[in-house]
Amino acid sequence: MSEWFERWFGEEYLALYPHRDEREAAAALGLVESNLGGLKVARALDLACGAGRHSRLLKERWATTGFDLSAALLARAKAADPDGFYVRGDMRALPFVDHGFDLVVNLFTSFGYFDNDAQHLRVLAEVARVTRRGGKFVLDFLNPDHVRSTLVPKESSDVGGRSVEVRREISPDERFVVKTIASGGEAGDQTFVERVRLFDRMDLETMLEESGFGVEQVLGDYAGGPHSESSPRTIVFAIRE
Ligand SMILES: C[S@@+](CC[C@H](N)C(=O)[O-])C[C@H]1O[C@@H](n2cnc3c(N)ncnc32)[C@H](O)[C@@H]1O
Repeated sequence: MSEWFERWFGEEYLALYPHRDEREAAAALGLVESNLGGLKVARALDLACGAGRHSRLLKERWATTGFDLSAALLARAKAADPDGFYVRGDMRALPFVDHGFDLVVNLFTSFGYFDNDAQHLRVLAEVARVTRRGGKFVLDFLNPDHVRSTLVPKESSDVGGRSVEVRREISPDERFVVKTIASGGEAGDQTFVERVRLFDRMDLETMLEESGFGVEQVLGDYAGGPHSESSPRTIVFAIRE
């Protein structure tokens, strides 16, 4: 049985979300760049780069590796940027040497996908291993308070002739937000699940600290606003100790 993220981040994801927001990507990277506190960066890793919208921008500044599990999304990244350097693999076992990156970014809620927290800690241990001492890790994650207070339980839309119904719920144990995406069209009906662990700011800070990072700053949106109960994001800037 494949895991939900192996099924969902493929051709159907690309069909249903054909134009992920490039402006949002530029805003996120503007925020990253202006909060690096003078860090000297030569090599950057875009961890879970998807179709490469951030990697393309990172590459304008630094030697950048885009890394993702999805062959379909990586093919899209490569098509948009044939000179880009993209690697396929699982974030729980990074195929990179120790301390090789000055900066690692994980953007747009590309964390919290596993059943158990030992695997999330495994990811952070891998990020710590590939980041040089004094290098930085930027983790851009959802804000569970904001997710709970703004949850839209059901939404229907039409995407390029396909009917799409999205249902969202908090799992009974309150640990996950679960999105069920049902699409219908010529190719037939398909259902996908997206399930993200509701880590709050303290959870992330604790896990990062246990993994060898010091948390420097936590922001709440791509404009650089403060983190609070109502901010949409939890954007953690951490330094490898
Ligand atoms: C929400 S998308 C975000 C992609 C990209 N960061 C962006 O903002 O456009 C999450 C990404 O995580 C990738 N992913 C999921 N599980 C992964 C894993 N175990 N290892 C590596 N990448 C994974 C997916 O393939 C997908 O591209």
